[in-house]
Amino acid sequence: MFDQKACRIAVCTSCKDKQSGERQGYALIETLRASIAADPQIDAQFQVSGVACMAGCDRPCTVGFHGQGKASYLFGDMTSEQDVADIVAFAKQYATLQDGWCSSVDRPGKLRKSTLARIPATLFSHPMSAEAAE
Ligand code: FES
Repeated sequence: MFDQKACRIAVCTSCKDKQSGERQGYALIETLRASIAADPQIDAQFQVSGVACMAGCDRPCTVGFHGQGKASYLFGDMTSEQDVADIVAFAKQYATLQDGWCSSVDRPGKLRKSTLARIPATLFSHPMSAEAAE
């Protein structure tokens, strides 16, 4: 059954390490899931899943954040245990940000300098009626 949570961390399963050529995404997913499961507050809000490619291929491994009504992020160069700690720290921060928006200086550790994209939340407006458009 699909695990529906408010936020998602997407990890690229296609990125290859520049030195070894190995795909690190699956190991990163496993470590992230264990770290998040250890904190019931963020575990209730985040699912961690794999994505085949997020178009950040030159900066392996890429990790994305998105949530309902929140800004989305794409980070690159996520490889080490310390990176996992930074990702988990950002998950805690992201959960508290109503619109998900924050500056690079406010992000933890390596996430300050490894942001490839920050995309504002989608704002839907009601379509204008034909009468109102006249
Ligand atoms: S292969 Fe990972 S972002 Fe393209």
